[in-house]
Amino acid sequence: MEVIIQPTAEAAVKLTARVLGDALRRNPEMVFGLATGATMESVYAELVRMHREEKLDFANAKTFNLDEYIGLPPEDKNSYRYYMDNHLFNHINIKKANTHLPDGMTNDIAGEGARYEAAIKAVGGIDLQLLGIGQDGHIGFNEPLSSLNSRTRDKSLTPLTLEQNGIYFDPPESMPRRAFTMGVGTILDARRIVMLVTGERKAQIIARAVEGPVSSMVTASAIQFHTNAVVILDEAAAGCLQGRDYYNWSFNNEPCWEPYR
Ligand code: PGA
Repeated sequence: MEVIIQPTAEAAVKLTARVLGDALRRNPEMVFGLATGATMESVYAELVRMHREEKLDFANAKTFNLDEYIGLPPEDKNSYRYYMDNHLFNHINIKKANTHLPDGMTNDIAGEGARYEAAIKAVGGIDLQLLGIGQDGHIGFNEPLSSLNSRTRDKSLTPLTLEQNGIYFDPPESMPRRAFTMGVGTILDARRIVMLVTGERKAQIIARAVEGPVSSMVTASAIQFHTNAVVILDEAAAGCLQGRDYYNWSFNNEPCWEPYR
């Protein structure tokens, strides 16, 4: 794992978007795993800017989102399909048919996970998975105690997640209690992981994920098993990390990061 600390959230977002954009320029047929949430809104705004101003071409890209609420139709403004369309897909030249989220309205809740896994497999797997982290340490909606081998499935959300995301719902209690999510095992199958974490409210949990023991109590800690994972933070989110000097030294000395310094 590599840890990159940027001075500001804006710089962390820009670096993240640049890593994604460079990967797409190298491989126009990239399969991206995508995330939602407040943190990612500015990443998508930056990708839209790169599409408009730098001709970043999504014509042959494919995407699979981590998760979707169960019971919300695509036109519901709190569904992740709505989020993705509005923050990214409607503003770039991706083919809508190449954008995938679990179907929150399916009649086959038990079968949806396997269907989604098969769709990922059919395109050869995910090349680059973008991740955030929840305040309870989740990646996707893999809440505490999720198996570190889990695959895409339906999952109950924790009180902390209901509190974190309930603010988007009116009333907050109308937030769905269940969601589909890629499993931790699904996420670890991606060829590359890029995690973006900003803001002081994430400082403690990201320190547990990066420097603490690997534990299903903090499912983000599972990325320690991944052989090609980078965590990009701003100073505020990096506040509880013990190894900052070492991470900065690595970033400044690794040849692969030279164009990004
Ligand atoms: P946030 O969500 O970006 O809204 O903090 C991240 C997450 O829960 O994974």
